[in-house]
Amino acid sequence: MKIGIVGLGYWGPNLIRNFLAQKSVDEVIACDMKEERLAMLRSKFPNVQFIKEYKSLLTSDIDAIAIATPVDTHYNLAREALEYGKHVWVEKPFTNSTKKAEELINLASSKNLRIFVDHTFLYTGAVKKIKEIILKGELGEILYFDSVRINLGLFQHDVNVIWDLAPHDLSIMKYLLYDKKAIGVTACGISSYYELENLAQLSVHFQNNSCFAHFHVNWTSPVKIRRIIIAGKKKMLVFDDLENSEKIKIYDCGVDITSTESVHNALVQYRTGDMYSPKIDQTEALNCAAKEFINCILENREPLTCGVDGMEVVRILEASDKSIKNKGMMVSLNSSSEEEMYKPSNEFQEYV
Ligand SMILES: NC(=O)c1ccc[n+]([C@@H]2O[C@H](COP(=O)([O-])OP(=O)(O)OC[C@H]3O[C@@H](n4cnc5c(N)ncnc54)[C@H](O)[C@@H]3O)[C@@H](O)[C@H]2O)c1
Repeated sequence: MKIGIVGLGYWGPNLIRNFLAQKSVDEVIACDMKEERLAMLRSKFPNVQFIKEYKSLLTSDIDAIAIATPVDTHYNLAREALEYGKHVWVEKPFTNSTKKAEELINLASSKNLRIFVDHTFLYTGAVKKIKEIILKGELGEILYFDSVRINLGLFQHDVNVIWDLAPHDLSIMKYLLYDKKAIGVTACGISSYYELENLAQLSVHFQNNSCFAHFHVNWTSPVKIRRIIIAGKKKMLVFDDLENSEKIKIYDCGVDITSTESVHNALVQYRTGDMYSPKIDQTEALNCAAKEFINCILENREPLTCGVDGMEVVRILEASDKSIKNKGMMVSLNSSSEEEMYKPSNEFQEYV
């Protein structure tokens, strides 16, 4: 198989390295519009052909193109690749709008081509292990998903901190809480330096309040935190991605209420048992992701992280923009009722 890669900034070289490591890949052609990026990478990857024009990639005999450029370019580059009959790998976030994501999905489907969205975390040993634990029922019914992804981060010039950092956690949430229906989004944020938010809090609300998910993302934190807490009725789990050897910890703790008749009569009992840390697979996530992309093409099937998964994440990101603009108002994720829910109430209009 021959793979093309476009966009050789921060992330693209990782794709080159991981595609070169795949047994079924015979050739990698890499493309960037900036000559200095090509010059820098030529000596590092002597077996890779480097080109400047995306058009040359499209007209070459490669089977698939991986797109690792800024998000506002994903749609055009992916559309052209699909039109030229190439399977596509698109970096997160898939596109900058749900409508564009849908168009790409339809185009790929009409040409029997695959779209792979790089939700890298779903290919980590840690997230695979958490999924296994949840599927076994070890945590019991999931009550909430609470994630913090903050540090003194690289400011992006095209997207705010939610579009930059939250796709990782949203994709993990959607993968793990696969049986819960997210119905709405509320978000707030501040733009301390320019018009794009550098700190934001995003909440995802579920049908019947069956669960709750919260995401805190920040490019302006003095400390780096990469932590997700998933609380179940039976056990609770902490995933700390900065831990080297014990990334996942499962706590046998919880709360039991003996009487729910009224809050005054309720007897709250706390359970605090043992904690253990399961062993997790250390294989590089991007290697597993590259393998999945190649296999889904060879086997003519949808990948684990397909276009629809990418679009569902973009839908939440889009809703977060609307909510932030309206001071944290609830925005529906159900397209048919979106207008109704999105229209500012009289009370809100008075407030602004
Ligand atoms: N999966 C992950 O964990 C992960 C991590 C980091 C970044 N990303 C994603 O990867 C993408 C790229 O991020 P980055 O930080 O590497 O960006 P970057 O700005 O460092 O690099 C982008 C590169 O794309 C090139 N480029 C842009 N348009 C082009 C075109 N039309 N033709 C050829 N080259 C073009 C630019 O010259 C630049 O070198 C983003 O979508 C980002 O969200 C994903």
